[in-house]
Amino acid sequence: MSFVITTPLYYVNDKPHLGSVYTTLICDAIARYKRLLGEDVIFITGVDEHGLKIQRTANEKGIEPKSHCDEISEIFNINWKNWDISFDKFIRTSSKNHELVVNEFYERVKASDDIYMGVQKGWYCVGCEEFKDNPSNSSTYKCPIHQKNLEWKNEENLFFKLSKYQKKIEKIINEPSFIEPIERRNEILNFVSKGLKDFSISRTNVSWGIPVPGYDNHTFYVWFDALLGYVSAISSDKADHSLEKSINGGWPADIHLIGKDILRFHAVYWPAMLISAGMKVPKKVFGHGFLTREGQKMGKSLGNVLDPNLLLSKYGNDPVRWYLIKDISLGNDGDFQDRRFVDIINNDLANTIGNLLNRTSSMSRKWFDNKVPNNEKISKENKLEFLASASVENYINKFNIYKLDQAANEVLSLAINTNLYLNERQPWLLIKESDKLPAVKEIIYNVLESTRIIGLLLQPLLPELSSKINLQLGSTYQKDVPWKQQLQWGQLIGDTKLPKPTPIINKLEYE
Ligand code: MSP
Repeated sequence: MSFVITTPLYYVNDKPHLGSVYTTLICDAIARYKRLLGEDVIFITGVDEHGLKIQRTANEKGIEPKSHCDEISEIFNINWKNWDISFDKFIRTSSKNHELVVNEFYERVKASDDIYMGVQKGWYCVGCEEFKDNPSNSSTYKCPIHQKNLEWKNEENLFFKLSKYQKKIEKIINEPSFIEPIERRNEILNFVSKGLKDFSISRTNVSWGIPVPGYDNHTFYVWFDALLGYVSAISSDKADHSLEKSINGGWPADIHLIGKDILRFHAVYWPAMLISAGMKVPKKVFGHGFLTREGQKMGKSLGNVLDPNLLLSKYGNDPVRWYLIKDISLGNDGDFQDRRFVDIINNDLANTIGNLLNRTSSMSRKWFDNKVPNNEKISKENKLEFLASASVENYINKFNIYKLDQAANEVLSLAINTNLYLNERQPWLLIKESDKLPAVKEIIYNVLESTRIIGLLLQPLLPELSSKINLQLGSTYQKDVPWKQQLQWGQLIGDTKLPKPTPIINKLEYE
């Protein structure tokens, strides 16, 4: 059984922004964590390339949509590699394979008698690629998300019988584990309780889309096509590409991690489409919050868009990961503040974790010939062993329910407690008394061992920092031993040679 996790498939109207980096980093941490637990992970990301929005963006640039999409898709692909995202599949919805899956899926939905021709009238937001519910019927109404005027549409479209699935959708969304967090679930319950309306799945005014078989001037509505990218991604690299291959290759998704603005598509339309096609629905849809900057919505017009690549080149991968994962509770909105960023990185990573490793390994090098001391085990009770085991247990419990900020805080607490232990025991005083050498060995061993566990716990969250800690401890992580087993106390081997010290994290300065 695979564990399938997806980011949204990002529109290629622009390069990645902090919001897309945020979702992708969270998915990456979850994917890495599940792999460490030994699960067979399929981590899917990709791009959503069709529709009016992309068609217009290409037109404005004076190029063909296909060339525009090639260019931006490549930027996304490279971008995720720069961020060291461990994705397994990168799906482009303009690929031939994807088109085959969409057609096959459409045939299934048609065979369920869920498609009919109708007239779609209403106010449309091209930014959202979505009709808006009765906005006071005026062209001056702006989409609250995009702040752009809505457009009036009146055209013949094919419709999907969403209303037929009212009861089934109610049952699915009433399952507490299906939509998280709870506030988002309540929004959707409320929306569905008003009664589901059929929605149009084709367009006659958009040429940049997948043609609907049998209807010359119709292309599939971009959302109908895009959601299927999650399915087609699974078999995207197989020569024999079909819906069945994707289903057998791992469908359904275990978790779709998305922003709160696109929850309806994922938690209502998508399950209904899947049931109609005789397929399993995703196990969970998690709607995270929105990021603001210094308390303000980010936007080109406000001139406050934070370029994630600047952050990456200036501070590196791990500091950005740490801030976004540890400082924002997944599901809530979050704010990016420059000074807070500097403070958090300096306090948590440099002063607490970095300093712990630094001071302990240098004591060990100095007193024990550049080696890890043997564990003398002279105390009856090992306080640090107890604290580390509790932290490991809490971390796993929190991570399993996607409380990544709390899992990160658990690692930080262990580092704080380990520093406290060191301060209490004061090995720098004990070393002056020759009969206290065994006690010093025990203390230093314990602290290094706790640091090893801290490094292991950071593996899914901060992969670079984790491997630096590992190197500084003499490469103690064991590839062949299950991760959970490695998290058990006492596996640091005495006499392990410690390498030359190098700083694992740099302190940041205010701009
Ligand atoms: N193409 C659709 C998704 C199709 S999935 C089959 C789409 N793309 S998007 O590029 O516009 O948005 C991608 C994601 O970015 C969404 O989950 C959206 O919520 C998220 N974000 C956009 N702005 C954001 C912030 N300021 N903060 C956090 N996430 C934000 O929608």
